[in-house]
Amino acid sequence: MTTFRDNLLAGKTAFVAGGTSGINLGIAKRFAQLGAKVAVAGRDPEKAARAAADIGVGAIGLSADVRDYAAIRGAMEQVVDQLGPMDIVISGAAGNFLAPALGMSANAFRTVVDIDLNGTFNVFRGCHALLNRPGASLIAITAGQAVNASALQVHACAAKAGINQLIRVLALEWGPEVRVNGISPGPIADTEGMKRLAPDAETRQSHFDRIAMKRWGKIEEVAESAVFLCSPAAAYITGTILDCDGGSQVGDASRGDLARGMA
Ligand code: HXC
Ligand code: NAP
Repeated sequence: MTTFRDNLLAGKTAFVAGGTSGINLGIAKRFAQLGAKVAVAGRDPEKAARAAADIGVGAIGLSADVRDYAAIRGAMEQVVDQLGPMDIVISGAAGNFLAPALGMSANAFRTVVDIDLNGTFNVFRGCHALLNRPGASLIAITAGQAVNASALQVHACAAKAGINQLIRVLALEWGPEVRVNGISPGPIADTEGMKRLAPDAETRQSHFDRIAMKRWGKIEEVAESAVFLCSPAAAYITGTILDCDGGSQVGDASRGDLARGMA
């Protein structure tokens, strides 16, 4: 993609929590392409090292669990030591699986809330003193489940809804110096999330029917939304959640084909 000019993020330091695979790795790669110094973190150290190699020369891959405040804070201190104060922080680590509430133990529910919601608090609370202020930009990766309830997703719906409010509160509290926004991706092709949440043809079709654009999203498209939100073009945008979802959260797209046929 050539949407943004090549050196847009030159001189910036970006940290992506959960940036060792999928959508978040795509965001990290795009930041690096645009000139940022980039660090990513996940639990698995080998996966983190592979991601850093994939991003390119100078990128750092760290192992830290977002559920552990000291560990994620320590990782971000390492980023500052090696790359300088952070301008951009993405909180994208998440866990998910399909399960009914009655098939979910208290620990199963807690685990997802702990990774998604508490993890986002830990990343954002932990990074504040390590940011280049004023001007820093924080982005949490949320999901449509935050707003639209979905069966078999009580853990993720609750956790992502919490993230949406966390974004808004921190935008209010940190407003003058730090912008805090969210991106809500729709169903994105070739991701772990889609593998887990749409494991069969019927479920895939029901996701597809909701997409106004009538195609799956691409990792690169979510990455472009992230670049926009941390660019000067979004200098007056804070406390907002950008849906990058082909219109799948707008409403009922199921009769779109009928409407197009009648036009
Ligand atoms: C019921 C389950 C379960 C399942 C795990 N558990 N899978 N319960 N159904 N399918 C339960 C376990 O039995 C255990 O409870 C508890 O959850 C914790 O499991 P652990 O394996 O010990 O946890 P942990 O090793 O911390 O792993 C976390 C995880 C795992 C979430 C369970 O799947 C993971 O690491 N996921 C990361 C990658 C991922 O999910 N990516 C997709 C994100 S997509 P008990 O009681 O037995 O101890 C996304 C949105 C996509 O977020 C939206 C698309 C439209
Ligand atoms: P993914 O590839 O599974 O990415 C998850 C990342 O988080 C990995 O880097 C993983 O690395 C890391 N992670 C997981 N648990 C962690 C923990 N406890 N501490 C630190 N890092 C942890 O998933 P994805 O499908 O690309 O999803 C990425 C984000 O987009 C998530 O926030 C998800 O909710 C959101 N989203 C995805 C879709 C979709 O279509 N895929 C739609 C809407 C929203 P380790 O396993 O090594 O820890």
